[in-house]
Amino acid sequence: MNRATLIFLGAFLVLTLSWGGLLLSNEQGYGALTPYFDDNESKAYPALVPGLAARGALVYADLGCAYCHTQQVRGGELSADLARHWGDRVSYGRDYIRNPRVLLGDLRVGQDLRNFGARAPAAATLYLHLYDPAAVVPGSTMPPHPFLFEQHAISGQPSPLALKVGGVAPGTELVPTERAEALVAYLLSLKDGYDFPEESRKNTPPPPPKEKAGGKKEIAAPAAAPKPEATKK
Ligand code: HEC
Repeated sequence: MNRATLIFLGAFLVLTLSWGGLLLSNEQGYGALTPYFDDNESKAYPALVPGLAARGALVYADLGCAYCHTQQVRGGELSADLARHWGDRVSYGRDYIRNPRVLLGDLRVGQDLRNFGARAPAAATLYLHLYDPAAVVPGSTMPPHPFLFEQHAISGQPSPLALKVGGVAPGTELVPTERAEALVAYLLSLKDGYDFPEESRKNTPPPPPKEKAGGKKEIAAPAAAPKPEATKK
C-alpha cells in the first residue's frame, strides 16, 4: 500500500468515526424520541406549541435572547438550577422534540428561561420589562427593547396592552407590536409541566432509608445511602 492510500484511509477513518460519534450517536439518542402518550389524560406530551408562540420563538432567535439566557434546567450536585427555582425538575431531551429549533443558549447573563412561563409576572409587567428592564428590576443589565413597541393615536377605546410609562404624548398610546405579542406568548409557553415516566425514573434519586421501629435504619442498597452533608452544597 503506498503512502497516499494510507493517508486517504486514515483521513477517511477519522472523519467516519467523528461523524458517527457526533451525529449518529445524537441522532439515535435524541432524534429517535417521540411524544409520550398519556393514556390517563388521553393527551400526547410535550404538547404542540401554539402558533403565536411558535412565531415568538423566531423573534427570540432573531433578537439574540439566547445570547444571555439558557433554556435548560440542569441537575447534578454541581448545579444550583433547582435551588434557584428555575424548574421543579431537570430538563429532558424529550422536552424539546416539538421545537423546530432548540434555543439552549450557553451563557447565563440572565436567568434560565426554560420554565419562565410557570413563574411569569402579569403580562403588563412582562411588556414593561421588555420595554425598559430597569423599570421593573432596578439596575438591570438586560438591554431595553423599545423597538418592540409603537406609539399611535388612541382611536376609540385605549388598548388594554398600552404601557403605563411617562413621556407618551396626550391622545397617543405606546402598544406592543405583533412581534412583541408573539415573543410574550412564547415566553409564557415555556414550561416543562409534564414529568415523563421513563425520564423521571432515571432522574429520581433513590428514596432515603426508612427508619425502623427500633431506631435502626434499614439500608436498601449501597447506592441509597445518604451522602455526607458537605458534598451537598
Ligand atoms: C445582554 C444580556 C441580555 C439579553 C440580550 C437579554 N436579556 Fe433578558 N435578562 C438579562 C438579565 C441580566 C436579566 C436579569 C435582570 C432582569 O430581570 O432584568 C434578564 C431577565 C430577563 C427576564 C426575567 C426572568 C425571570 O426569571 O424573572 C426575562 C423574561 C427576559 N430577561 C427575557 C429576555 C428576552 C425575551 C430577550 C430577548 C428579546 C432577552 N431577555 C435578552 C440579560 C439579557
